[in-house]
Amino acid sequence: MFDYLVVGTGLFGSTFAHEAAKKGKKVKMIDKRDHIGGNIYTEKVEDIIVHKYGAHIFHTNNQEIWDYVNQFADFNRYTNSPIANYHGEIYNMPFNMNTFNKLWGVVTPEEAKAKIEEQRKAANIEKPNNLEEQAISLVGTDIYERLIKGYTEKQWGRKASDLPAFIIKRLPVRFTYDNNYFNDRFQGIPIGGYTQIIENMLASDRISVELNTDFFSNREEYMKTYPKIIYTGMIDQFFDYKYGELEYRSLKFESAVLEQENYQGNAVVNYTDSETPYSRIIEHKHFEFGKQPKTIITKEYPMSWEKGSEPYYPINDDKNNEKFKQYQDLAEKQSNVIFGGRLGMYKYYDMHQVIAAALTVAKRELY
Ligand code: FDA
Repeated sequence: MFDYLVVGTGLFGSTFAHEAAKKGKKVKMIDKRDHIGGNIYTEKVEDIIVHKYGAHIFHTNNQEIWDYVNQFADFNRYTNSPIANYHGEIYNMPFNMNTFNKLWGVVTPEEAKAKIEEQRKAANIEKPNNLEEQAISLVGTDIYERLIKGYTEKQWGRKASDLPAFIIKRLPVRFTYDNNYFNDRFQGIPIGGYTQIIENMLASDRISVELNTDFFSNREEYMKTYPKIIYTGMIDQFFDYKYGELEYRSLKFESAVLEQENYQGNAVVNYTDSETPYSRIIEHKHFEFGKQPKTIITKEYPMSWEKGSEPYYPINDDKNNEKFKQYQDLAEKQSNVIFGGRLGMYKYYDMHQVIAAALTVAKRELY
């Protein structure tokens, strides 16, 4: 007899299952995919660890979460320093003194600040009406035109002048020569990939996993059989889209094995022009400083989302947030179902946030 059914073997479901098993509970897990791990799943191809669902870099400021995840894998010292390719010109990210030097030839922080200020003043935008105006009012026209406009328009599938200003609240600008994308104290990539983290979390004889199994193919039975369900699928689907569909942006990944050792010299290169249809290229071996004779790259194409395609990024505008709130009200009335994870909470979560959220639920539920 199981104590819990966990729907989804992603990081949320697996963290909860691990904690429940530790407390002596018996856990059944199902996943509709043919592998565990949800979107953090990695697999080895040509001796290279491939991030199947896009680049995943673990980062956190929280010592507790860092210690927690380090129980399940050893991490390397990978530091995320993506670069931007704009019509063949390379710029460092996040926007920093290296970026400003390349753009304007400036050398000191004062010169860079003066340049940005000059462009912001020239644009003369008092109250930004859309994302384009918001971005220019924050960082000026050069950075916007070369590094923000094309990338953002590809990501959202809409013109920046048609996107609401609130999407960009701030744009991190750094007046040092520091290319480290994250400000967090801890970051890295698990040596050997992310799948082992999930495998190790689920390595208990109290946990049993069934793949290729969709909750909705047998929902009534599951609801009857299990005393409690942790559900990490789409919340609107759980309620049969009663209030309509929540919207997402989707992605298409196109991978290739190349007969060369090093394709782009960096794990992540963003394409910030409007013409290139993909928004970035990942070269997986650089996450682990790989020296294999071949290399694997993945082009990432932002796509619109339709029911049935993979939902990657929630579109948290007012319309969707209101709809989600209605679903959340229904969810709170379900005494035997706990909703969690990025799809259950309709929220973009980084990995450290998913672990923290699952641990909070586990504490409330198990202790
Ligand atoms: P996740 O989606 O991983 O798991 C849910 C599971 O439930 C899936 O396996 C799914 O198949 C299953 N499921 C859904 N419905 C079901 C049903 N009806 N029946 C059975 N199973 C069902 N974070 C970070 O910290 N650093 C990073 O660099 C990145 N990079 C990144 C890139 C991209 C492209 C994306 C989209 C996301 C990131 N992330 C990230 C975020 C990271 O992917 C995220 O935090 C976790 O994967 C979320 O874990 P969940 O368990 O919530 O969902």
